[in-house]
Amino acid sequence: MRGAWPALALVAVGLVVLSGCAKEDAPATTIDPPAMPPTATPATMAAAEPQIDAATGFKMTGDWQLVRGNCTGCHSAKLITQQRGTEQQWLTMIRWMQKKQNLWQFDPDTETRIIAYLAEHYPPQAARRRAAIPPDLMPPNPYEAQALN
Ligand code: HEC
Repeated sequence: MRGAWPALALVAVGLVVLSGCAKEDAPATTIDPPAMPPTATPATMAAAEPQIDAATGFKMTGDWQLVRGNCTGCHSAKLITQQRGTEQQWLTMIRWMQKKQNLWQFDPDTETRIIAYLAEHYPPQAARRRAAIPPDLMPPNPYEAQALN
């Protein structure tokens, strides 16, 4: 064991010297190129997003034909595809139409499937309005000054 100490000391000195050298002629930093997302091909895009029915604009997936059959007799499908809602919100719209607009009653299974389709493909969206400007960034209000005088 005693014989190991000089060797260890040499290694330590060597490390100090090496790290000193490394600082002096450090190689130029290489920056890895950012990872590129996988290239989207028509095939992968089709898998991600359902096709759109040309006549109604509905996403052609799941129970879309059930929705087409029950929801486009009185008004354009656009009224639906431009709308967004949770399951509860879609149910509320259906109840309103049943009460006020002569929409017929659905059997529970049909209603559940219609609402599930709508809430999945036309869900609520994040608020699109910008946040209010903070008071300290607002320009002075000239009318405020008038009111004070
Ligand atoms: C019996 C006729 C009828 C059927 C069938 C019908 N609706 Fe309606 N719906 C109406 C009427 C009438 C309005 C009001 C149209 C207007 O304001 O111009 C309306 C309005 C709407 C609106 C707009 C609500 C709003 O707040 O602006 C949505 C969304 C809607 N319907 C979705 C649906 C869905 C989903 C179905 C299928 C479950 C459906 N409708 C089936 C009659 C119907």
